[in-house]
Amino acid sequence: MDHNTPILGLGLESSCDETSAAVVKNGSEILSHEIFSQVDLHSEYFGVVPEIASRSHLEVINGLIQKALDDAKISFSDLHYVAATQRPGLVGSLLIAVQSAKAISFVHKIPFIGVNHLEAHLYAPFLEEKNPVYPFIGLLVSGGNTAIYIVRGPGEYELIGKTVDDAVGEAYDKVSKFLNLGYPGGPHIERIARTAKIRKQLFPKILADTGPQDTRFSYSGIKTAVVNYIRQYPDADTAEIVWSFQERAIEILARRVFTIARLHNITTIVVAGGVAANGRLRELLNETKRDSEDIIIPSPLLCTDNGAMVAGIGYRYYTLGIHNDLHTDVKARA
Ligand code: KG4
Repeated sequence: MDHNTPILGLGLESSCDETSAAVVKNGSEILSHEIFSQVDLHSEYFGVVPEIASRSHLEVINGLIQKALDDAKISFSDLHYVAATQRPGLVGSLLIAVQSAKAISFVHKIPFIGVNHLEAHLYAPFLEEKNPVYPFIGLLVSGGNTAIYIVRGPGEYELIGKTVDDAVGEAYDKVSKFLNLGYPGGPHIERIARTAKIRKQLFPKILADTGPQDTRFSYSGIKTAVVNYIRQYPDADTAEIVWSFQERAIEILARRVFTIARLHNITTIVVAGGVAANGRLRELLNETKRDSEDIIIPSPLLCTDNGAMVAGIGYRYYTLGIHNDLHTDVKARA
């Protein structure tokens, strides 16, 4: 193949409640990007219903793939590889993108690359202007995960710490459900917290004073503290409560990230996942960072689940000659 030939990859995502298809050139340039969010289907349940999710993925994925190819002005025969999120996620949902990718791989004789969703999230900034340099600290904050990694290269991850119970996004969603603020909780809580007139802390710090070696996160205690407070003070101001909750929820993220980065002498920090869209988190990280430190957060569209990040990390594996056979199954866990 001519070295100047652009490498075109199709990335498919269906691990939770977004169906997405994207065409990415050379692992860096998004040529087309389709995302269908199922939020409206799940909002009355205040959480993702797996059976509804997989059915919806199945209904929309073919249309999204065709639209992604049309928008990129290419056809299946122009693709060099097809990548799909293969783990972790809801099994019935994962299957939809993975089976579609395998069918495309089989029919068009191009490699199929099964992607780790968490790794794909941390690839998102490579699709934008400012590329992180390896090694970097990866903070992954979403509805299903809260974890810190040292990322030394594609596929080279060291898990440094993770939540021992709920994920941070899950805590946002549960507090929002309890206060009846809407689903998903993150954007509602962020908006309402901004209106708090009295900004006095009501809840204890999460995992305070456990020492710098402690790399754990925990979100079930703060959720219970909020619920208990509301039961005790039913007339308390909602904005003040969610302001306090949010400050505590993100304080531990900033605390852990900088402690770990400085301990390992790493100055680039990448934040990814749905909660990375939170403006207060961005603000706190930027307030706390030193001049020598760089915080890289993808734009909100690339923070949530999307196919472009899947095509992007898929490119790295494609160029390394790594791909999966068609017997590869999906996995609920990473
Ligand atoms: O990464 P994501 O789209 O899906 C997975 O969890 O896989 O993340 C969704 C999570 C939800 O829990 C949602 O409440 C949270 O991200 N989220 C936010 C914000 N936007 C979305 N949390 C805090 N502030 C936000 N602005």
